[in-house]
Amino acid sequence: QTTVTVSPAVLGFTSVAKSLDDVVKVPEGYSVSVLYRLGDPLNAATSAYANNGTDTGFSARGGDHHDGMHYFGLAATGSARDDASNTRGLLVMNHENITQVYLHANGPTSTGGVRPEGEALKEMEAHGVAVVEVARAGSGAWSYVQGSALNRRITPLTPAVFSGPVRGNALLRTRFSPAGTDGRGTINNCANGFTAWGSYLTCEENWAGYFRRATGDDTARGGAAARSVVALKRYGIPEGAGGSYGWASVIPSDATSTIYARWNASATGAAADGTADFRNEPNQFGWVVEIDPYDPTKPPRKRTALGRFGHEGCWPSAFVAGRRPAFYMGDDSRGEYLYKFVSAQPWAAADASASDRLAIGDKYFDAGTLYVAKFNADGTGTWMPLVFGTGPLTAANATYAFADQADVLTNVRLAADALGATKMDRPEWTTINPVTGEMYLTLTNNNASVRPLDGTDAANPRHYNDPKGAANTAQRGNPNGHIVRLRETGDTSEATGFSWDIYLFGADSADSDPANVNLSGLDASNDFSSPDGLWFGRPSNESGQVSPLLWIQTDDGAFTDRTNNQMLVALPGKVGDGGARTITNKGADGATRTQATIVGKTATGATLKRFLVGPKGCEITGIDSTPDGRTLFVNIQHPGEDGGLTALQSSWPATQGGTSSTARPRSATIVITKNDGGVVGL
Ligand code: FEO
Ligand code: CA
Ligand code: CA
Ligand code: CA
Repeated sequence: QTTVTVSPAVLGFTSVAKSLDDVVKVPEGYSVSVLYRLGDPLNAATSAYANNGTDTGFSARGGDHHDGMHYFGLAATGSARDDASNTRGLLVMNHENITQVYLHANGPTSTGGVRPEGEALKEMEAHGVAVVEVARAGSGAWSYVQGSALNRRITPLTPAVFSGPVRGNALLRTRFSPAGTDGRGTINNCANGFTAWGSYLTCEENWAGYFRRATGDDTARGGAAARSVVALKRYGIPEGAGGSYGWASVIPSDATSTIYARWNASATGAAADGTADFRNEPNQFGWVVEIDPYDPTKPPRKRTALGRFGHEGCWPSAFVAGRRPAFYMGDDSRGEYLYKFVSAQPWAAADASASDRLAIGDKYFDAGTLYVAKFNADGTGTWMPLVFGTGPLTAANATYAFADQADVLTNVRLAADALGATKMDRPEWTTINPVTGEMYLTLTNNNASVRPLDGTDAANPRHYNDPKGAANTAQRGNPNGHIVRLRETGDTSEATGFSWDIYLFGADSADSDPANVNLSGLDASNDFSSPDGLWFGRPSNESGQVSPLLWIQTDDGAFTDRTNNQMLVALPGKVGDGGARTITNKGADGATRTQATIVGKTATGATLKRFLVGPKGCEITGIDSTPDGRTLFVNIQHPGEDGGLTALQSSWPATQGGTSSTARPRSATIVITKNDGGVVGL
C-alpha cells in the first residue's frame, strides 16, 4: 500500500463529559440535528407519524432500532450513482429490532396467547432495512426526501432470493419455497458492510429468537441426536422456544397466508422433506444479504458462501487490483467466532462501475473460501478453512457427519467447533484501517459462565468481578470488553495467517480492584464499557490525506449508572506497538489467576476522547459520513428502552436541544457537523 501522511497527531476537540441527560451531547464547536426517525413517512401518500401507537403502514415508514448504515452518493438529479457527492445520497440502514411497547396505543396485547394480526404485522414491518434519500440544502441543513422514488423499505415480508452454494439445497426447502431458492425478507439486521461496486451488505444477527418450536418437536425430528435438533440447539432454538413477540400465534384473516405460520419451526407437516411446513425456515436466516440501493426493483440476495451464524457485520478489506478481496465478520454471541470470507475472484477495478451491481456480487460472493480464526498465545493466528472434505469436515466425522459444503455453510458454528477455533468475548463490528490495512474487532463483553476465571486465553484474557456489580454474576467475566486488532501476514487479504494484539480495554477509570482492571489507563475523559460499533473515517479527507480516525460506539449495561452510551474517537497505532503483559484476574471469591497477553501501546487522553454521549436508554450504533468527512451520520438506537408508557425513561429526540417533552421516544439518525464547516473529528 502507498505511504500516506497521517493527520492529525492529536485530537483537536475537547472531550465530552459523561452524561445521564436525555439529549445527545457533542463537543463544543459541533452541532446536532435529527434527520430520520422511527415512523417518518417515506412516500407522499403516508401521513406524518402520530407517535401514539395508532400509526400503521410501516412498509412506507421509518423502521425501529436504527443500526448499521452506509451513505451512497447520488448525482445532482435522478438515480445515478455518484460516489463523490457530498450533498445528495442514499442512506441505507438496518432496523434491527423494535421497542414493542411504543408501537401500540396501550402496549402489546394478546388474547389467550394469540396476538392480534394488525399488531404483529406492524411489528414485522418495523424490522428490516431502509433506503432513504437525503439531501443538503444551500443553507447546509440536511433533510430526508419524503417523496423520493428511491426510498424503499425491505421488511421480513419482502421477496428475497438465495445465491451461492446453499441455493436449492434441501436445508432451505419450505412450504413457501419447495425448491429452496426463495425466501421472504430479512430480520434482526445488525451491522453492515458495503462493496466497491456500490451495493450494501446487511447482516442477520439475533434471528433465532423470533422462532417458536413446540414441546415434543425434538422427537418429531428424530430425537435429541438428530442432526436438525443438534443444529437448532446450537443456534439457539431449543424445543419449547416461544418466539419473540408471538407472531406464530396469529390467526390470519386470509387463511391461505403463511406470513405468521412461518415463525413456527416445528416439524408438524406430513412431508418429511420440509415442504409442507416451516421446519427449515430458521435456515433461511443468519446470512449476509446484498442489496442494490440504486435499484428498488431488485430483490435482495442472500449470500450463502459467507456462512450462516449470528452475523454482526461484514466489512471488506481494501479492493486491490489482482488480489482476492476479503470480508471480515463477527458472530455475536458469547463464545462465538471471528470469520473471514475470501472471494475466489481477484479484484478487477472495472467491476466498480458495472451497472448490474448484484451480478457483480454473484461474481465475488458466490465462490470463495470461508475461514474461522484461531488466535495463538504468541501473538500469531491462523485462518482455518471451512471446506467440506478437509480436516474434520467430512461425512466420517463421528460428532457431526457433515453432508456437503452446503451443510458446512448452513451449520458453520458446528464446523468451527469441529476445527477448534478460538471462542471470543462476543465478536461485534469489524473495520479496516485505511492506512495500514489492519483489521479491528470489538469484543463487547462476556459473562462468567462462558469466560470463567480458569477459562481465559491470550486474546480473551479477562475475568474479574465488576465492582459495581458485586451482586450481579452477569457482570463477572469480561464485563467491559476490549478491542483486538489483526495484521494479515504479508499485508494481503488472501493471507491464511496473521499477527494480533489487544488495542484497547474498556474500564471504569474509577475501578481499582483488581489493581490493573483499567489496563489501558483510561481517565474520566475517555472511559467506556462494551465497545460495539467500530468505523474508520472515509479515506478521502482534507487535501487527499487519509484521516485515520477510529470511531468507537458503545452498547453497555455495566456502565450506564455512570453515563448513557457514547461514541469515542481514537488515533490508532499498529499491531505490535506495545508488548507482552501479564494481567491479574480475580474471581468473585477473591481467587486470582494471571494471564499473559499481547497489549498494544496504551491509548491516552490525547489519542482517545469521548466525542458524543446519547440520550437515556439508548445504544449508539451505525455511522458513516459524506466522502468529504464534513457531514457525519450517526444512529441512536432504542432511546428509553428501559421505560414504559406509564414511566417514560426518555422522550428523545423531542428533547434534543433541551426541550421538555412527554413524547414517546424514537430511534433516529442524527447529523453532526462542525460549526466552521470542517471535517468532523479532526
Ligand atoms: Fe446487534 Fe451484536 O449487536
Ligand atoms: Ca441493538
Ligand atoms: Ca452491535
Ligand atoms: Ca451490542
